[in-house]
Amino acid sequence: MADERAQKTVVLGVSGCIAAYKACEILRGLQKAGVRVKVLMTEHATQFVGTATFRALSHEEVAVSNFDDPNDPIPHISVAHEADVMLLAPLTANAMAKIAHGIADDLFSTTVLATQAPLVIAPAMNVGMWQAAATQDNLKILRDRGAIVVGPASGYLACGDVAAGKLADVDEIVARTLEVLDRKEVLKGKRVVVTAGPTQEPIDAVRYIANRSSGKMGYEIARAAHAWGADVTLVSGPTALEPPYGVDVVRATTAADMLEKTRAAFADADLLVCAAAVADYTPAHPADHKLKKTVERLDTLELVETADILQTLSAEKRDRVVIGFAAETNDVAEYARQKLKRKGCDAIVANDVSNPVSTFGSDTNKVSWITAAGEEELPLASKREVAHMIIERASRLLA
Ligand code: CTP
Repeated sequence: MADERAQKTVVLGVSGCIAAYKACEILRGLQKAGVRVKVLMTEHATQFVGTATFRALSHEEVAVSNFDDPNDPIPHISVAHEADVMLLAPLTANAMAKIAHGIADDLFSTTVLATQAPLVIAPAMNVGMWQAAATQDNLKILRDRGAIVVGPASGYLACGDVAAGKLADVDEIVARTLEVLDRKEVLKGKRVVVTAGPTQEPIDAVRYIANRSSGKMGYEIARAAHAWGADVTLVSGPTALEPPYGVDVVRATTAADMLEKTRAAFADADLLVCAAAVADYTPAHPADHKLKKTVERLDTLELVETADILQTLSAEKRDRVVIGFAAETNDVAEYARQKLKRKGCDAIVANDVSNPVSTFGSDTNKVSWITAAGEEELPLASKREVAHMIIERASRLLA
């Protein structure tokens, strides 16, 4: 891993708090692991540690102002692009609030807003500021967006309180940052296909059969697979979601269309995750015009079963890995085990859609990971965090 790390850059963002001096140790810890570190500071941070210290330690120019460097006319974009991981340590309450809300009024905040790199944050502040509802809300925003939060620890704070708010242990911050950096290597060179969202099965030119799937879980899986280094194709049914950064999106409407596009994408892929809520039935004779109730009766609809994408492509998978979902309202584990067998896939992610924390459209999920080897209950987390847990387990099956 050390050789690969030598090609990587952690941008270490330091904001203005007494723990800023510990960023020097964080920088050294990352350097010892073979990583290049580029330091980005807020103006306030320079009150605690001088730029000369970080410049000497990192052997790099230190980025503080949008306008100082004559050789770099757009520093927030160039620093944002350099980052393989953006580590903000220590992160003050003010800097956290700014990045949570997209405020971009200095080099630090513009760079964080511009970067596509994963974010690791290590907050440090007075206990009152830490426990303030505003700070906790901002923390939730960042966590839901996928930021990895390290600490804070409890201990003797600069203000004299012994409480939560202390910068997490330097070794822990370094280790978590390296973990995020290294996971970009795990699926490097692998191709991953994800299906997401509902399908729409036409009844006539204006009506269709669909379901309540928002597509969020599948989109998060595609995003996570990209973060773990894979080339990702997302075959998406109609959703209102923004395409994830760095992911190829292929649009599909009906189950038949989704099967065809997923099969084409899976032809040279290593892993398929079927997270779409595919319609099980489609109208047998969709009309190409709008049906008129005064002319053609619509009180019965002849349906035919759709192809099962998961089952069909599992039968064609050879030594590749296929993962399915089981959205159930009752007897979740039992139905999921039956689906694992019936569909012939390698793992099933089972969730209880009757529970508000894991239902269609929610931002959280609570799932179980079920393989022939056994069953693992994963903790309740944001769909983004759950996606990382799934990709982590899927990559073990691929290895
Ligand atoms: N699936 C699929 N194609 C279908 C139906 C389902 O690929 N035509 C996939 C889903 O993407 C999911 C898994 O099969 O990964 C299970 O879907 P689910 O709707 O839970 O199960 P069904 O097979 O539809 O069975 P049932 O409706 O009886 O629960």
